[in-house]
Amino acid sequence: MRDLENSVVPALDIAAMRVEYGVDAGENHPGPETDLDETWLADGWEPLLRTWIEQATSALVADPNAMVLATVEQTDSGPKPATRTVLCKGLSPEGVTFYTNFESFKGRALTVTPYASATLVWPVLGRQVTVRGPVRRVAPEVTEVYWRSRPRGSQLGAWASNQSRPVASRAELDRQMLEMTERFTGVDEIPVPPHWGGFLIQPETVEFWQGRRSRMHNRLRVLLEPGNTDVAAMKVERLQP
Ligand SMILES: Cc1cc2nc3c(=O)[nH]c(=O)nc-3n(C[C@H](O)[C@H](O)[C@H](O)COP(=O)(O)O)c2cc1C
Repeated sequence: MRDLENSVVPALDIAAMRVEYGVDAGENHPGPETDLDETWLADGWEPLLRTWIEQATSALVADPNAMVLATVEQTDSGPKPATRTVLCKGLSPEGVTFYTNFESFKGRALTVTPYASATLVWPVLGRQVTVRGPVRRVAPEVTEVYWRSRPRGSQLGAWASNQSRPVASRAELDRQMLEMTERFTGVDEIPVPPHWGGFLIQPETVEFWQGRRSRMHNRLRVLLEPGNTDVAAMKVERLQP
């Protein structure tokens, strides 16, 4: 940890922090195109989201496929939202896929209320995309393919962690990992844990947001019938910023 008490960094003025989006992309300030309009969606929402993730990757954004995932928890005092970050690990006209523990807080919330909203944000590009719609588990064969691509350490971690449950100490967590490492010693292909797999968000809406000057941003919302991947069936509307 840095020694914050002796730091000479001036006090943060959070209210004064602001960025002007869509400043002209001149030679000295190469930036993304900002004139987002309906023509960008001619081939559907999926190619545009793919392009934006590619451009975020080129801009050296860390985890350009990270998305903040909102789920709904049903409680005695009514439904409550919860958010956390996950990585988009599959993108197709069918929707966006992420992988997690089915027994985690989010896994249980999605089992009871299979609907989610996920936002990818790339502040350096002045862009965000929100995908919202019903959620279903992906086929075990699809999970298997992705599982095989994961490093062995991540596979062991998925076995060792009872995600979202309290644990007495770091030492206890390390002990669980050691136990799984020993359990799978000599096993070449670690199997997919029964409590682990992918969820697919089938978009009902996908909103593309591109920041522009004076807060007059471009917002395009694509309306879809979940499960219908026909580009001709999608509708696009412009929203006020
Ligand atoms: C950049 C980033 C990527 C993450 N990716 C995943 C992921 O793909 N799957 C996952 O289960 N958790 C991922 N996490 C951890 C989650 O944010 C979260 O802590 C965990 O899934 C438990 O969430 P829950 O208790 O709400 O179920 C990621 C965290 C960060 C910061």
